[in-house]
Amino acid sequence: MTGTVKHTHWSKWRCPSNIALVKYWGKRDFQKPMNPSLSFVLQNAFTETSVELHKDGDQKVEFYFEGAASSFGERIEKYLNHVSAWLPWVNKYHFRIHSSNSFPHSAGIASSASSFGALALCLTELDFAISGKEPNCPEFWQKASELARMGSGSACRSVYGGFVLWGQTQLFKSCSDEHAMPLSEGVHQVFYGLCDAILMVDSGTKEVSSSVGHRLMDEHFYQRSRIAQAHENINELYLALLTGDLEKFIAVVENEALSLHAMMMTSNPSFLLLKPNSLELISRIRRFREMTQIPVCFTIDAGPNIHLLYFQENEPDVKAFIERELLVFCENRMWIDDGIGNGPEKLMN
Ligand code: DP6
Repeated sequence: MTGTVKHTHWSKWRCPSNIALVKYWGKRDFQKPMNPSLSFVLQNAFTETSVELHKDGDQKVEFYFEGAASSFGERIEKYLNHVSAWLPWVNKYHFRIHSSNSFPHSAGIASSASSFGALALCLTELDFAISGKEPNCPEFWQKASELARMGSGSACRSVYGGFVLWGQTQLFKSCSDEHAMPLSEGVHQVFYGLCDAILMVDSGTKEVSSSVGHRLMDEHFYQRSRIAQAHENINELYLALLTGDLEKFIAVVENEALSLHAMMMTSNPSFLLLKPNSLELISRIRRFREMTQIPVCFTIDAGPNIHLLYFQENEPDVKAFIERELLVFCENRMWIDDGIGNGPEKLMN
């Protein structure tokens, strides 16, 4: 009976989700990105995961999502088999994992980034404890990012706070395809007040899974130009972040969101994930920007929901605009009030 066995090691983390401004789309080798990406970590959308290690048990992995046994355990078992090449102790234990999200399942927020981020942080902490290493060092976060990447690419960007870069670029020598790195210095103050209103157009399950989506880039007619575009957009966005250039920021962010969807629309098979209400929201956001000169813009993941990005100082005007003009295009007037966050947090109970 696993229920009565005392655990030998335990770890618990809260890890936020993140939203990409320059999009990761397309993979090479094992979970390495075809192009670099740049994201920021959210504050309110997070996963909390605890991992208990036991010496005995009926199953290799018992996984509970919000208290109930869940089939996601099978994906985790595969993942653990894979990462045991880096963490040999994984083979010696049985795992009991409890996980929950701060956002409803139906919210349409991709939870793989926060779930694999939280799990990878637990595994890293356990690894450091088992091998007697000091946890609070750059190597700790790098390992957590690398382990997260193996579960879900975008998850490697969730283990840091603020703005995060993943993938080789000409910007920094230390940029890697293996793990992400935080942009800890030099980002203009204005961007620390970045807010994200997630406007829920459709909370249904994704029409195209991200693994299928990424594969569409393997033979894509525009593959080379998309890779070149992402590099150029990373350079431009980084410059905008350093200088506080809001106009450039807005231009790059919207270009990236629409390029991601352009890639999906022109792949074989082709996917059209934007809904009429997504387009309505996009044009209203642009019109609001033109009319008021308030710096707002949108980004979009591989789905129909629209992330409206704005800055703290404009919060009252933008919230009134959302209420007045945008909620009517959202499913059940649903939206999530979020913004840039400080990154993961170790939990004690
Ligand atoms: C459109 O990280 O979900 O959100 O590595 O297969 O788990 P896997 O893919 P995933 O892809 C995210 C794609 C994206 C853009 C991004 O987050 O950069």
